[in-house]
Amino acid sequence: MASSASSLLRSKLRDPSLLREQAYIGGQWTDRGKSATFDVKNPYNNETIGTCPDLDSADAAHAVEVAHEAFQSFRHTPAKQRSQILEKWYSLMREHEQDLATILTYENGRPLDAAKAEIQYAASFFSWFQGEALRAYSGETIESSVPGGRVLTFKQPVGVVGVLTPWNFPSAMITRKAGAALAAGCSVVVKPAAETPYSALALAELGERAGIPAGVFNVVTTNEYLASVGKTLCEHDLVKKVSFTGSTRVGKLLMEQSSSTLKKLSMELGGNAPFIIYDDADVSLALQGLMAAKFRASGQTCVCANRVYVQDGIYDDFVKQFADIVQRDMIAGDPTTAGTTLGPLISETAATRVASMVEDAKAGGAEVVLGGESARSTSDPATFYPATVLKGMQPGMRASREELFGPVVAFYRFKSDDELLKMANDAEVGLAGYVYTEKLGRAWRVAEALETGMVGVNTGMVSDPVAPFGGIKHSGFGREGGRVGLDEFQVMKTITLGGLGLPTNSI
Ligand code: SIN
Repeated sequence: MASSASSLLRSKLRDPSLLREQAYIGGQWTDRGKSATFDVKNPYNNETIGTCPDLDSADAAHAVEVAHEAFQSFRHTPAKQRSQILEKWYSLMREHEQDLATILTYENGRPLDAAKAEIQYAASFFSWFQGEALRAYSGETIESSVPGGRVLTFKQPVGVVGVLTPWNFPSAMITRKAGAALAAGCSVVVKPAAETPYSALALAELGERAGIPAGVFNVVTTNEYLASVGKTLCEHDLVKKVSFTGSTRVGKLLMEQSSSTLKKLSMELGGNAPFIIYDDADVSLALQGLMAAKFRASGQTCVCANRVYVQDGIYDDFVKQFADIVQRDMIAGDPTTAGTTLGPLISETAATRVASMVEDAKAGGAEVVLGGESARSTSDPATFYPATVLKGMQPGMRASREELFGPVVAFYRFKSDDELLKMANDAEVGLAGYVYTEKLGRAWRVAEALETGMVGVNTGMVSDPVAPFGGIKHSGFGREGGRVGLDEFQVMKTITLGGLGLPTNSI
């Protein structure tokens, strides 16, 4: 069913059937008889781009039961078959990447080129996990403590997986989880963010075309934040694993909700990434890396550079060069217009929050080198915040303790290693960190000392399907992607064999 509001976005698509305005459960497009819908808005102009059914707890429980039923046979499909489905799904995503990017741009505000990059990043998880499905080497043979015994271990799919994903990567956070889950032989129920359901539904449409059996991949749309669908996925006994990407606050709540059923969990939560540039760094590499690590998704990623520490000797020059690049390259505007490199933030609330953090920094003595609230033009939408460079930042300011989640670059000066590490590790969370230096020993020592789950050395990009992604401290636990990404969706079984007889030289 298509709403009249969606005709504009539909007209932009080469394949309009990718824009789905119903939930997807058990291989059926459905509103489950609900008349309640919610509007999906374009964050650039606040126009409604379509509607979705506002499903509830009972609908989520139904999806879980359907997924459980589908799991009974999907778990036994040969790995080669699961791999082929993922391979087909990957090819379909690449074939339709222009449309998928357009949908993402309209619901998330990401400029078109960057949206296409996300679709490629998202598809790369299917490509990676179609290989990993075949390479799920699992198990060991161990000599038992009891004579005449052997112990074998192997891994099995965990069961139905609840996938709870954020609006900042509407496609990639689903493929990173669902790709691994399907490779392992699990079925999934996805609850996409209310702001960005269409990317999830377009994935479901392509999944169906790729041959995913009915009930193995389900999408439950809802406008709620946590109260019903999310809670049901966490509390339902048939859901054996919940994989969540989002804020630390919500992650803790989901853990509480999941405790009564002792679910296996992966929590990819907030970050506060230190980005360190030593005097001896390759400055042009560092400038380039910082642009990438800061402005991806308008600064709305949990691995974005949040606190940029530059050593005293190059500090002033580096800040100036960086601000010049930002002024030249960050072109704000309508994300659907070619040439725009900085889109809106997801909501007016997000923009107001960023503005308040900049004001807090200014009040604490930081200097605005570029941008800031006063750089807004009267024609800017309320969701927009200008690319901003601040220097003279100090520990204790809000921007050093919280994720900026916006296009604001905050520079801190440091002199010694000790001072640096004290500041860099002074954070409750620990997801990503970055260090630029030409000294190998220093790079190694800092990478080991940083209290984060991931460190980029002379690179501003740690996101790669081959690399385990995840944090420590209040950034959560579990790893996504990489070889270990599959483990998260498997459980180990141990088989103890007895009575084999004592080993001798003859049988
Ligand atoms: C995130 O911000 O949650 C994920 C970022 C990434 O995968 O690079």
